[in-house]
Amino acid sequence: MNKRPILVAFSNQKGGVGKSTVTAVLASYFNYVKGLKVAVVDCDYPQFSLEKLRGRDLKNLEKSEYHQRLFCRQFEDGSRKAYPIVTSTPEAAAEISGKLEGDYDLIFFDLPGTVNSRGVFESVMNMDFIFTPIVKDRMVMQSSLSFVSTVQDFIGQHPEAPLKDIRLFWNRMDSRTS
Ligand SMILES: Nc1ncnc2c1ncn2[C@@H]1O[C@H](COP(=O)(O)OP(=O)(O)O)[C@@H](O)[C@H]1O
Ligand SMILES: [Mg+2]
Repeated sequence: MNKRPILVAFSNQKGGVGKSTVTAVLASYFNYVKGLKVAVVDCDYPQFSLEKLRGRDLKNLEKSEYHQRLFCRQFEDGSRKAYPIVTSTPEAAAEISGKLEGDYDLIFFDLPGTVNSRGVFESVMNMDFIFTPIVKDRMVMQSSLSFVSTVQDFIGQHPEAPLKDIRLFWNRMDSRTS
């Protein structure tokens, strides 16, 4: 019997806070470093930035002998293979995870920057966990806090829903940010 993967979404009301970046970094970390079976579902239409990133990787591979050698080595030495990145509409996001071939431990979803758009809120509620990046910006803070409180209300009212928790985390902090 297939085990159920853990579904994790990065979501926020605002764009440009690091959802796609953090998705790519964490998917790579858990896949290549921790050896978990990871898949990524890119629902961020029309940008599809993660899918585009994979497209750029493939172009680099075609052009560069150095990357081709690295790729062959990765193939031969039994290292963890690249994880799939599939695109989806936000409405079909949770559903698509059941259709991915293979047993995954962890599926990351890069959702669009607005939860008001059709299907995004429903999708978010079918995740196991939501992580919301925040940056030091009043608009981002306000919309993120209101998003978190809406989601927490939903969790409180729907104990049967898959969603267990939502967490905010700081992104794009540097030494100049006080
Ligand atoms: N932790 C970080 N450190 C430095 N740059 C970052 C970090 N997170 C995101 N960025 C940059 O910020 C920009 C927006 O990030 P992105 O992941 O595309 O946001 P979103 O997917 O939420 O719209 C990109 O140029 C990205 O490279
Ligand atoms: Mg993005």
